[in-house]
Amino acid sequence: MEGKGDAMQVPGKRAGVIFDVEGVRAVVTGAASGLGFAMAEVLALNGARVNLLDSNGDLLEAAVKELADEGATVSGELCDVSDPDAVDRVFGAIAEREGGLDAVFANAGISRGAGVIVEEGQIEHADRSAYRQVIDVNLDGVVWTVQAAARVMRPQRHGRIVVTASTAGLSTEAFCGYGYIAAKGGVVNLVRQAALDLARDNVLVNGIAPGPFHTRIGGPSGGDPDVEEYWASTVPLGRMADPSELQGLVLLLAAPRASTFLTGAIIPVDGGTLVGPPISAFSRPAGGFVR
Ligand SMILES: NC(=O)c1ccc[n+]([C@@H]2O[C@H](COP(=O)([O-])OP(=O)(O)OC[C@H]3O[C@@H](n4cnc5c(N)ncnc54)[C@H](O)[C@@H]3O)[C@@H](O)[C@H]2O)c1
Repeated sequence: MEGKGDAMQVPGKRAGVIFDVEGVRAVVTGAASGLGFAMAEVLALNGARVNLLDSNGDLLEAAVKELADEGATVSGELCDVSDPDAVDRVFGAIAEREGGLDAVFANAGISRGAGVIVEEGQIEHADRSAYRQVIDVNLDGVVWTVQAAARVMRPQRHGRIVVTASTAGLSTEAFCGYGYIAAKGGVVNLVRQAALDLARDNVLVNGIAPGPFHTRIGGPSGGDPDVEEYWASTVPLGRMADPSELQGLVLLLAAPRASTFLTGAIIPVDGGTLVGPPISAFSRPAGGFVR
């Protein structure tokens, strides 16, 4: 599937060629909801063969049906990414059925435990069970997924691995618990190490660092409105995002003719959050600082 910079040889409009994912054999973990569903959707509706993995059977069934009803080539596998044996088993079966894998999105993740903004989230009180659950899924689950992907991709000498990190892996975040911050910080450097390791075999590994998106991570009916208002207030663009706003980047990272020299990058999709607080967060003295 991999073409090295040959898109410009094709006459006519180039974008459809560069971002073409037709026939790409893809796996997305945590694909039944939120960002993972948006990833699966844009790949599947553009002709990729997408395997949706999730630990929530009901959500998974609905997600697969929704895409299949639109004529996409999709299948769903129940898989808890925190269980390395299950990950190996599911990836082995998919790779055998598909004859290889071209793009794997290690996206599944959870949020548990209070943020440091409240007393119970402060380091002395941080809940150990919540910490363990988040590390199991958001850090270890990504390691097992990247490992399973690499076992298929290295021998075939091509592939794309994309990890969903977070702005919380690149900066502090008062509303996030210690498990979440530690896991996301961990996967940022895991991406870089795996990119280095797999570059010699032409497997590209990158991370996405989303800012606040409307998904089910804050609960099935969306987040607490006060918390969502807080999140929006941290974003220079002044709002939370819709998962569809990630889809252009997904095509860029998965398409065999796009981003062929891009590896080891962590790409923020955060409305400017990492640039700094919105200007409205600063109180300006009368007359400003102009001298
Ligand atoms: N929503 C945001 O604002 C935001 C910001 C930064 C990063 N992220 C990251 O994006 C990723 C997706 O989260 P989301 O916001 O779409 O949340 P979501 O809850 O809408 O979707 C997460 C999906 O992962 C599945 N999942 C949970 N644990 C699993 C496990 N052990 N094995 C397999 N599947 C599992 C869930 O069933 C769900 O379908 C996560 O890694 C999250 O940390 C989200």
